[in-house]
Amino acid sequence: MGVRMAGLGHYAPAKVLTNDDLEKILDTSDEWITTRTGMKRRHIAAPDEATSDLAIAAAKMALQNASLKPKDVDCYVVATVTPDFAFPATGCIVASKLGVAGKPAFDIEIACSGFIYGLTVVSSLIRSGVYKRVMLIGAETLSKLVNYQDRSTAILFGDGAGAAILEESSEDSFLAADLGSDGTTPETLYLPAGGSRTPLTPEILAAHGDKIHMAGREVFKFAVNRMVESSLTALSRANLKPEDLSYLIPHQANRRIIDAAAQRLSMPPEKVIVNIQEYGNTSAASIPLALSEASRDRKLKDGDLIVFTGFGAGLSWGAVAWRWAA
Ligand code: UT7
Repeated sequence: MGVRMAGLGHYAPAKVLTNDDLEKILDTSDEWITTRTGMKRRHIAAPDEATSDLAIAAAKMALQNASLKPKDVDCYVVATVTPDFAFPATGCIVASKLGVAGKPAFDIEIACSGFIYGLTVVSSLIRSGVYKRVMLIGAETLSKLVNYQDRSTAILFGDGAGAAILEESSEDSFLAADLGSDGTTPETLYLPAGGSRTPLTPEILAAHGDKIHMAGREVFKFAVNRMVESSLTALSRANLKPEDLSYLIPHQANRRIIDAAAQRLSMPPEKVIVNIQEYGNTSAASIPLALSEASRDRKLKDGDLIVFTGFGAGLSWGAVAWRWAA
């Protein structure tokens, strides 16, 4: 049994935060942000908009794209680090609000690698015959975890969602995967408090312990190496080489990271899907958002070979080699 993508969708909140807006609240500049990250804008959820709301909007577009109803999907999976609540899983809320309470639903929490891990898990569920059709959504409201007084992180993150409906198929789109993690130094990129290690107190809240902390330069160095190695491993497991690829669809964390990885994989710019200028870093949502836009823009053709690759907190990383089936 194989798996294919039957429909794609995406959603981003209406409110936009530009580099010019950030210049007004931080010691930064459009020039610094553009040259160091490639970002120009990011979309920001409204105060009453939660991750499940973004996920549902993306899921509805994917259902319409596939001419399916919520009941036609057997299982709902949400990859996110910004769930509506610590528990229950956001997937449960999404399925119920789509009118299909009772269906299995769960979350995957592996930060920016969420869609890569999710694609591997969901493809395995379908290829092994457990489910015929699964909705995989990457959705984030990272703006709610950003300290807008910290210029090293405030400029990077945005909100959005991307959804893919995966279904069984006689031809297999899933060619190979490579996944990895290293939890030796979680503080390289983490949310310090609010978990069982460090529960929230008024003092910790005052010190922004409930917001993203990151050693940016450390993450940068690891990101390029891991995305390249992981992509090459997934490709070799599929008996493919970088020159066979139609597209590289990387996690959108920093334009310089994407360009360096693409260069080391000898991928020319026209084969690399980039939308970082519009959305910033949307963690688990970035790859499905970029994929859905590429599909909407009719860039993908039947038989195209794609590598999806990402990295993030964990640290974690991965790549999936995929054959696009129209
Ligand atoms: O999904 C995974 C999540 N995270 C990432 O992918 C992040 C990976 N890392 C990066 O993207 C980059 O490291 C950053 C964009 C975060 C930072 O870029 P960088 O080129 O590594 O800059 P840096 O941290 O080495 O800082 C260079 C200078 C510093 O000033 P000094 O010490 O040289 O005087 C910073 O204080 O730039 C300063 N700086 C800023 N200046 C203006 C840091 N942030 C800003 C800012 N505006 N927003």
